[in-house]
Amino acid sequence: MLSSSPFRNRHGDSSPARSPGRRKRSQFTYRHFHQMASYNTSCPLRVVAHLDLDCFYAQVEMVRLGIPEDKPLAVQQWQGLIAVNYPARSFNIGRHCTVTEAKRLCPGLISQHVATWREGDDKWAYRDDAAEHIATDKVSLDPYRLESRRIMNIIKEHLPGGDLQKVEKASIDEVFLDLSAHVHAVMAERFEELRGLEPYGDANEEMLMPGVKALDWKADALVDLGEGEGEFDDPDWDDVALLVASEIVRNLRGVIREKSGYTCSAGVSRNKLLSKLGSAYKKPNQQTVIRNRAVRHFLSGFKFTKIKNLGGKLGEQVAEAFNTEAVSDLLEVPMEQLKMKLGNENGVWIYETLRGVDTSEVNSGTQIKSMLSAKSFRPDITTVEQATKWLRIFAADIFARLVEEGVLEHKRRPKTINLHHRHGNQTRSRSGPIPARLLNEESLFELAKNLLYQITLEGNIWPCSNLSLSVAGFEEGVQGNMGIDAFLVKGDEARALKSSESARTSSKEAVDTSIRQQPAAKRRRIDGGGGGGIQRFLTKRGSAPEDDLVRKNSGETTLGTSKTYVASGAGWPEELSSKEAQADPRRSPMMAHACSRCNANLGSPEELQSHLDWHFAKDLQEEERVSQAFANQQASAAANNPRVGSQKGAAAPPASAAASGPKKSTGRPKKKPERGQSKLNFG
Ligand code: CTP
Ligand code: CA
Ligand code: CA
Repeated sequence: MLSSSPFRNRHGDSSPARSPGRRKRSQFTYRHFHQMASYNTSCPLRVVAHLDLDCFYAQVEMVRLGIPEDKPLAVQQWQGLIAVNYPARSFNIGRHCTVTEAKRLCPGLISQHVATWREGDDKWAYRDDAAEHIATDKVSLDPYRLESRRIMNIIKEHLPGGDLQKVEKASIDEVFLDLSAHVHAVMAERFEELRGLEPYGDANEEMLMPGVKALDWKADALVDLGEGEGEFDDPDWDDVALLVASEIVRNLRGVIREKSGYTCSAGVSRNKLLSKLGSAYKKPNQQTVIRNRAVRHFLSGFKFTKIKNLGGKLGEQVAEAFNTEAVSDLLEVPMEQLKMKLGNENGVWIYETLRGVDTSEVNSGTQIKSMLSAKSFRPDITTVEQATKWLRIFAADIFARLVEEGVLEHKRRPKTINLHHRHGNQTRSRSGPIPARLLNEESLFELAKNLLYQITLEGNIWPCSNLSLSVAGFEEGVQGNMGIDAFLVKGDEARALKSSESARTSSKEAVDTSIRQQPAAKRRRIDGGGGGGIQRFLTKRGSAPEDDLVRKNSGETTLGTSKTYVASGAGWPEELSSKEAQADPRRSPMMAHACSRCNANLGSPEELQSHLDWHFAKDLQEEERVSQAFANQQASAAANNPRVGSQKGAAAPPASAAASGPKKSTGRPKKKPERGQSKLNFG
């Protein structure tokens, strides 16, 4: 796989030098090298890559439509843009533009509307008139999910399997790869001295330096070193490991390109934190290597609010305490002082993070926890018939995703179905079990109708501004759900269905109840520990247009929308906690709340929600700028959860939203910092 050798020894040929006697000692021990094989996350030779598709939705449309690569194209959702290709970006077109603005900037712009489900139809489709049908259509991201899945399969097929593979799908267009074991195998094959046992039976003995003098990094963007930071030192084994990893990644990107037509950018470094920053460093179609010796210099160019988990409350706290947002300033602060001002745990964590330490695992086992399909109505709907039409679409949408999740092969199935209904500022919800044998599109529809029926019994539920259907409680390996019985509900199941558990009318109560059902630990995280907690959102009016919801979450909706629930906030404690379950458990509890839109990391669920509110309100502002028709809409929160009072409250972003990238210019238009990175995988 690795063709011409990138290693050069002192004599300029490419076989490893064989005069160990004269070589210096490496900083690394045999133990360190062995640790690579077992994905030890503290291993100093660890190698992790992050791949991010370039202008993903735009590329999908270009490939689908056979549009030449140099043509400017944007993906449109109603009057807004959700993806912009690089040729179009050179006209200063970005996701902030409306279609009209973008066309003014570039009259030749191809603007392709996303596929939609249409009221009364049972399949999503690309429609020429979608933009005018915001009232009757619902955006479908299935084309992107399918391509995302295809790319994931290409990656999994191309990399060696078994223990040598560790792949985490991080969003609809991103993956993390822990390449340590793979690189370990390649290194052992290439370097005789690394094979077998350590020479004197002492794993803690430092290895000899690699017998190579120079490494050929091909076209990789190599992050510069700071002054006097060892550019002229001989390569050590960590450089060799990163070089091998970068070859693997370059190859893989070539295969993705060849098999799917898509380009992506990548970051290669020793951990997720750095690789994620690396993949965004140079785009499109490039890869950036952050050698260990370059970490300090690389990070010092960033504002720390740009770093994973340092947005939000904690970031603000740090900025306030030290009166700066620059990593370089904070690097001067001794650990003791950080501990004193921020507490022991946070102090240590920040000290390490600023130095590029991140031992979070590449997690190939992350499974989606729930799926949601929702629509906000403009104008509100007023009849059961109208609602029923939407339930059919939701059922089809969810079932399509369940199929992707392997439900037909009996891999995983959800146990519960929930319907949320929003009327004014009241949210009503009902949920019930999905009987084991009862799982297909039709049955989901039937179950949903049943839940709606129960809600109608409460009377006075119209007009309705938002409906959302979700399934949750996934379990593994359930057999026999697709027989003829699938259409019949009998016995216990029927009784179960009839006595569907009922979350009560008032949204406040509903949430309270759900929260009470959470284990204490989850509960703490949901309400943020603060006095207000999510309750704060419950008293406010408004519901989010589903399309904003989609936009907000489209970066990570591939097989599920547990993220959606986070965005949608208060009404979805179960799902909120399921997202929590996917977050990195290794760090302090306040670290686990990443914004799916801009990668800001917030200190608590509450923080995350207010941050999302800001995004949300901002989206609405933009949308309303375009269409007077919606000018009187209340700005709002996602799905059927009341959160923000009005879009007018969208004055300033939480600190993290203003974060800027590395100082080093990448020679391309400044892009929005949206880099969704929540964890979801393909299952
Ligand atoms: N996305 C979205 N709304 C957002 C952020 C992202 O719909 N607020 C979608 C975009 O359409 C995008 C995909 O999620 O294609 C991936 O997002 P991201 O990686 O942030 O941006 P890209 O468009 O892929 O651009 P880049 O080349 O900068 O990665
Ligand atoms: Ca991308
Ligand atoms: Ca991305």
